[in-house]
Amino acid sequence: MNKTLNTSEFEWEKLRGPFVVPTQGDREALATKIASAFDGGRWLKGYIRGKLLADPVFDEGLSAILEKGGDVTDLGCGLGLLGLWLKSHGYGGKYRGCDLGGWKISAGNLAVERLGFADSELHEGDLADFSLGNSGTICAFDILHYLPEEVQEVLLRRLATAARSGSLVLIRNGVRGCGWRSSVTLAEEWWTRASGWIRGGTINFPELGRLRELFEEEGCCVEAKPLWGKTPFSSYWLKISARN
Ligand SMILES: C[S@@+](CC[C@H](N)C(=O)[O-])C[C@H]1O[C@@H](n2cnc3c(N)ncnc32)[C@H](O)[C@@H]1O
Repeated sequence: MNKTLNTSEFEWEKLRGPFVVPTQGDREALATKIASAFDGGRWLKGYIRGKLLADPVFDEGLSAILEKGGDVTDLGCGLGLLGLWLKSHGYGGKYRGCDLGGWKISAGNLAVERLGFADSELHEGDLADFSLGNSGTICAFDILHYLPEEVQEVLLRRLATAARSGSLVLIRNGVRGCGWRSSVTLAEEWWTRASGWIRGGTINFPELGRLRELFEEEGCCVEAKPLWGKTPFSSYWLKISARN
């Protein structure tokens, strides 16, 4: 049964409308509020709160998306945490996500409803069939390694076409060839499969050099930097746009 959250104890409104950089206290309050909009036990709520606060991809995404503006498409959105983070910071553009995990989509949509966020929708489905629409920004965070070689290649070329047409493409992914970090990332991926948190067979981490080469060959401009925060993973951030 749906229930409306009592948000009165938090100054929610000050984080809507014109963007103000939240303090660490605000960030913690936002992450707690988002986590408590999900059903499930303490483990899931703790995971969501911890992920929002510790994974730098959310703030990095927020900052790039605020600068770009427009609608956001999130491929392999999981629980839709990026959309919830954007909306809770007052982002006014439409957010659309898709993921194969049906329970994540239902849980994310319920959280959106409880938090009263407009223009946010999560769809269950394969990202290979998901329209990129006329997005200001397209995000692909930690999903490339789930895709077999040919599917990954097709997606990357679609993303390059979208970037050439004016979209900003944001990718964050573990990469091969980054020494011990790549080994730890691979081991963690085996664990997520073994624990059942994520189902699937393929583990196909891309090489950073190959990603850069493909987008440049397609006429795009690529900015890349490590984005692993305090984790031991080989996570890289790529910001791809049309070459002027
Ligand atoms: C590591 S999670 C990342 C979730 C989200 N992007 C984030 O950063 O919080 C990877 C997600 O990709 C989804 N996924 C894997 N292959 C997919 C596909 N072909 N189409 C849609 N989603 C997919 C999984 O279900 C999982 O939720």
